[in-house]
Amino acid sequence: MVPKSSALFLTLFICCFTQEVGAQVSLAMEDVVEVYKGDTAIIQCQYSFAQHPNMVMVQWFVRGPGGRRVRISYSDLTMQKVDENTTYTDRISIVGYPNGENLTIVDATLSDEREFFCQVNGLAAGTGEGRTNLKVFNPPEPPIVEAVYSGVSTTNPLPSKVATCETREGFPKPNITWYRNHQPLDPKNGQVNVVTLVTKGPSGLYTVESELQYKVAREDEESVFSCEVSYHVPGAIRTAESRGVNVTVHYPTLNVEMWRDSPMGLVKEGDTVEIRCQGDGNPPPTFTFSREQELDVGLEAEGNLLLLKDVTRRDSGVYKCQTLDLDSEDSDVGASLQLAVNYLDPAVVIPKDSEIMLKGESLTATCNALSSLETSTVWFKDGVEIRRGHVLQLQDASFDTAGRYECEVTVPTIPGLHTSGSVHIIVHGAPELRDVEREVPMMERVGKWLNLTCEARGFPRPVITWNVTGSPNSREVLKKETEDVVQSVLTLKVTMDTVAMCSATNVMGADTKNFTITSIPIVTPTARKDAVDNSGVMIVIIIISLLLIAILGSVLYFLHKKGKLPCGRSGKQEITKETTNKDNIVVEMKAEKTEKTEKTVLLKGVNGNNKPPSDQ
Ligand SMILES: *[C@@H]1O[C@H](CO)[C@@H](O)[C@H](O)[C@H]1NC(C)=O
Ligand SMILES: *[C@@H]1O[C@H](CO)[C@@H](O)[C@H](O)[C@H]1NC(C)=O
Ligand SMILES: *[C@@H]1O[C@H](CO)[C@@H](O)[C@H](O)[C@H]1NC(C)=O
Ligand SMILES: *[C@@H]1O[C@H](CO)[C@@H](O)[C@H](O)[C@H]1NC(C)=O
Ligand SMILES: *[C@@H]1O[C@H](CO)[C@@H](O)[C@H](O)[C@H]1NC(C)=O
Ligand SMILES: *[C@@H]1O[C@H](CO)[C@@H](O)[C@H](O)[C@H]1NC(C)=O
Ligand SMILES: *[C@@H]1O[C@H](CO)[C@@H](O)[C@H](O)[C@H]1NC(C)=O
Repeated sequence: MVPKSSALFLTLFICCFTQEVGAQVSLAMEDVVEVYKGDTAIIQCQYSFAQHPNMVMVQWFVRGPGGRRVRISYSDLTMQKVDENTTYTDRISIVGYPNGENLTIVDATLSDEREFFCQVNGLAAGTGEGRTNLKVFNPPEPPIVEAVYSGVSTTNPLPSKVATCETREGFPKPNITWYRNHQPLDPKNGQVNVVTLVTKGPSGLYTVESELQYKVAREDEESVFSCEVSYHVPGAIRTAESRGVNVTVHYPTLNVEMWRDSPMGLVKEGDTVEIRCQGDGNPPPTFTFSREQELDVGLEAEGNLLLLKDVTRRDSGVYKCQTLDLDSEDSDVGASLQLAVNYLDPAVVIPKDSEIMLKGESLTATCNALSSLETSTVWFKDGVEIRRGHVLQLQDASFDTAGRYECEVTVPTIPGLHTSGSVHIIVHGAPELRDVEREVPMMERVGKWLNLTCEARGFPRPVITWNVTGSPNSREVLKKETEDVVQSVLTLKVTMDTVAMCSATNVMGADTKNFTITSIPIVTPTARKDAVDNSGVMIVIIIISLLLIAILGSVLYFLHKKGKLPCGRSGKQEITKETTNKDNIVVEMKAEKTEKTEKTVLLKGVNGNNKPPSDQ
């Protein structure tokens, strides 16, 4: 039945085709229908006749292998069927409606991308045919970019492989574009090459691999490369961008920097010095270190670090580092650095160790330390700063001048660099007693114990001797000696008037000091009574004397009245006698005075008797 119909159709087709000039039927079909793989595609075929046809046949064809047309469905007023044994038998259906038909293809495949023809035959009313291109799309997987792991060298004269990008299973064939820092990279001779490999899988999907060859420059270290895939979808073009990748760029060292890492500031002997070299190449170059004085002798270094431990002034000089690039051009790059190791030698003090001066002498001491830098010297005595400068003048030496003088030499520009020295000054001289008074008068009661202190200074250290004249009971109870001072305490029991002479002597001379002790005798309570009685007697004597003078005066007056007393020389003599008498009285008054004094002292003693005289 089908072949029959086909034959009929063929004849009708030819008939109508010939009549087409009359064009009584017109068809409306979309040029292109686009659909995702797996989706359902609907191809519409609408027609209209100029004159109403008695019958209408609609047949659908596809372009088969070898360009041959294959019918896939047939319908007329009475029937509607899908042709058997075609590739579409199971996947198509026809929906007819007045003046039109829809061909529905389910589960679109890549092979459906072809022309579909719709042929309408109205016999006498006319015949027409239209076509629609079915396009099937499959978006590819997102692109995967991969940068080369090994570094890319800038010295390569040709573009080098930098990255690859792959997108899988796309239809139709997607395109890959390369970007550098989000700017598209267009293939350019000698600069950018893109090598694309397209493979079509068994399913008909395309996998596109793209390799970017690029002539890297130093700044590409920072560049980010990415690829973008663009693909068609129904009605549009979509793009998908890959992640960005970095490329390790290798470039030769052009400049080398050399610097001292530590210590900061000036270098001194004993320091550990760290010198570093760094080149601007990548990978970082390795270096050889040497000294300018002996360039052929390599110094041991750890990578780019030269470590000089415990440096001395002999380590001063110019240091060099040189790249050790085996594969690079013959032009070695290097840098140099001047190292100055500062020093401070031990201080030299003149005079050395110790020096003897005579009292009153003068001396100039110096303290010097050799240094590579300016130094500052300070003199100390007993920890107290006494002078700044390296010269110390000691004038008019006294015992106070003696002692240990220390000088400290520092380098102000390098804290921690210092040295010191010292000199011991000894002042020779005759002893000098500590107290100014050389005569010490004292009044002490008999029986009292006294401590007499004598302190002398001198060098060589004086010897103190005591010479006690008087009280026999004495001894030295304390003796303290330092380098140039000696102190002696003599304890003495006062028994009589005593002179204790302290003399300090050394080879240079002597000095003495006298303690003159006047003893006060002990007064017993009976002795006191006697003293009171005595004064009573004295008063009586004085009264009697006054009475006698009064009597004598009245007698003389009486004689004078009687005229028995001559008024010549003899009278004068009498007066002289009188005077003599008077003198006697005066003497007696004096004696009284003395006794009074004694009494006062005694009273004092009585007052002092609050604590009984238990000294002995
Ligand atoms: C379809 O093809 C098969 C073999 O491929 C055949 O046996 C069958 O008869 C055919 N059917 C029709 C209707 O032509
Ligand atoms: C035919 O297909 C068109 C477009 O896909 C649609 O709008 C229309 O409704 C369909 N007609 C029928 C009768 O299915
Ligand atoms: C891919 O590139 C070709 C050639 O430049 C172009 O014709 C095509 O439209 C591109 N396809 C996409 C999806 O951009
Ligand atoms: C690339 O390298 C630069 C510098 O090394 C870095 O800042 C940046 O984050 C890197 N980017 C990527 C995508 O790795
Ligand atoms: C101390 O007395 C002695 C005689 O006893 C005398 O020679 C000496 O000069 C006196 N010393 C002083 C400092 O007065
Ligand atoms: C005298 O000195 C000695 C020793 O320092 C001391 O033991 C004693 O008490 C002192 N005597 C007097 C009366 O100060
Ligand atoms: C002590 O002094 C007296 C009088 O000054 C003197 O005669 C005597 O020799 C002296 N004794 C000593 C041991 O110096």
